Amino acid sequence: MTIAVIGGTGLTTLEGLVQVRREVVRTPYGEPSGPLVHGRLDDHALVFLPRHGRGHTIAPHRINYRANLWALRELGVEEVIAVAAVGGIGPEMAPARLAFPTQLIDYTWGRQQTFFENDLDPVTHVDFTDPYDPGLRARLLQAARQLFPDDVVDGGTYGATQGPRLETAAEIRRMARDGCDLVGMTGMPEAGLARELGLRYATCAVVANRAAGVSAEPI
Ligand code: HPA
Repeated sequence: MTIAVIGGTGLTTLEGLVQVRREVVRTPYGEPSGPLVHGRLDDHALVFLPRHGRGHTIAPHRINYRANLWALRELGVEEVIAVAAVGGIGPEMAPARLAFPTQLIDYTWGRQQTFFENDLDPVTHVDFTDPYDPGLRARLLQAARQLFPDDVVDGGTYGATQGPRLETAAEIRRMARDGCDLVGMTGMPEAGLARELGLRYATCAVVANRAAGVSAEPI
């Protein structure tokens, strides 16, 4: 089974990854964020793709999410660990914590959010009740707890905003009322597209800051 890591802000290279080769993958949906890196981390083969490009040049609303996920599946990837920097809304979502959300709400707009562009077919409406794969999420949570026992949050709802600007304090208050615990700009359509392709997908959210208006500190 091949695992992929999609790196977010702050994770454009994977420490300890022994690079085996880089592969340029073309897809019917255009170019992924960059060449995909095949490598080994400890004893595991994995594929690494920095979501924002190697030089962190691609803004969240400009990422070709469809090409990224299509390319991963093309390489035989079955599980995707999506690392994402987020803002913390809920009180336990303090900076430097790792959270493994169970739910999401999509506030993005104008992004290519499906592979089913044309005629309806029976699989168009994928089940997205649980947007993150429970088995993969549980394994990530367990591993993170071993490494950082005091800094791991089990669960939470991720709100995906359009960006690239940060949110207003009122937007964050509304998201809190909606039940969001975390806010980020890249969680959708990535998770939905992964589900459409049948990839098991879970997010490791790295809390980078308190969301707008949550603390007196400037972001
Ligand atoms: N809002 C949206 N995306 C983010 C934030 C935030 O506060 N922090 C890191 N990614």
